[in-house]
Amino acid sequence: ENSRFSKLLAINEKTKEFYHHILINTKVGEAAYLYLLDRGVKKETIEEFKLGFSPPQRNALKLYLDNQEDIDHTLLSETGLFSDRDDNQLLDRFSSRIIFPITDHRGHTVAFSGRIFEGDNSETTPGFHSAKYVNSPETDLFNKRKVLFNYDKARPNIRREGEVYLFEGFMDVISSWQAGIKNGIASMGTSLTQEQIKQMDRVTDKVIIAYDGDPAGLEATKRATEYFIEQTHFSIEITSFPEKLDPDDYIKSRGKEAYKDFLLHGRDTLMSFLMKYYRNGKNLKNESERISYIEQVLKEMTTVNSPVERELYFKQLAEEFKVTQDTLKEQFQQHVFENQ
Ligand code: GTP
Ligand code: MN
Ligand code: MN
Ligand code: MN
Ligand code: MN
Repeated sequence: ENSRFSKLLAINEKTKEFYHHILINTKVGEAAYLYLLDRGVKKETIEEFKLGFSPPQRNALKLYLDNQEDIDHTLLSETGLFSDRDDNQLLDRFSSRIIFPITDHRGHTVAFSGRIFEGDNSETTPGFHSAKYVNSPETDLFNKRKVLFNYDKARPNIRREGEVYLFEGFMDVISSWQAGIKNGIASMGTSLTQEQIKQMDRVTDKVIIAYDGDPAGLEATKRATEYFIEQTHFSIEITSFPEKLDPDDYIKSRGKEAYKDFLLHGRDTLMSFLMKYYRNGKNLKNESERISYIEQVLKEMTTVNSPVERELYFKQLAEEFKVTQDTLKEQFQQHVFENQ
């Protein structure tokens, strides 16, 4: 069984080299390469992450692997690299996409993700609808609930820094890495799993959630905080990006120094994030919306362990809403009681 794993890994390794070669050295990969450079991804970053490009022909990878002698060809259909057709022909899953190799905690390439890019006309071809990113399906090597993008490379840096940045997208991790933030990872898509949190828990107890500043990112942040709160010893901070920017956009529009400054000094505590979150879309001049807001905040405060921090929020709420701290504390105790 072990040798089956290593045979599958060997195929992925060949595939990674193939796609990378196409991107770096060939005419076929040129538009994708220019696209990446134009986005600000440097040559050495492309090398570091072994980014690649899958040619448009639906049999390019298949032909390449068919001609490789030192791999097990009977396993090709189990790699997730191909989609089966009725006539038993294996067709390349990734075509005309920028390729992001996905590694496991040991650095083994277990899957790939492919992004369409602007030079590609599939987005504009009528009747052709295509997802921005396509991932490998689950295989014996790839459990997407467990894998965190860049975890293997980030791990020593997470330990050293004592904290991990959780980003939403691959490009956020990559641009941050290039800007000098090397303790960043991303889950596979926006939904975070308990398995992924367990992986992080192995190396740190502090997470900075740095998801996109758009409404989807905000909702995903709220969900992520709920998962982290269940692991009670995690300390959680949140960076809320302005103007719907994501970290990669922020670097591009404001530069890497401003970005790093924002990451360090623009952090919210969990409670101030939640206060912003619950305020969103509410008219606090309206009495019932005001009451519901205070209730939501008091309820969330039951997860705040520090009495000093709690005191601060009682004071803040009391001042803003002209309620006595005693009343707030009485209400708060009810929520503590309900949670027991
Ligand atoms: P860029 O547009 O290249 O900057 O990507 P992004 O990282 O900003 O993407 P976005 O914020 O739209 O999505 C965040 C992450 O969600 C991506 O890195 C992907 O992992 C995932 N994702 C986005 N779109 C899709 C999709 O269409 N299909 C799948 N499976 N995942 C997606
Ligand atoms: Mn822990
Ligand atoms: Mn997003
Ligand atoms: Mn994004
Ligand atoms: Mn982006």
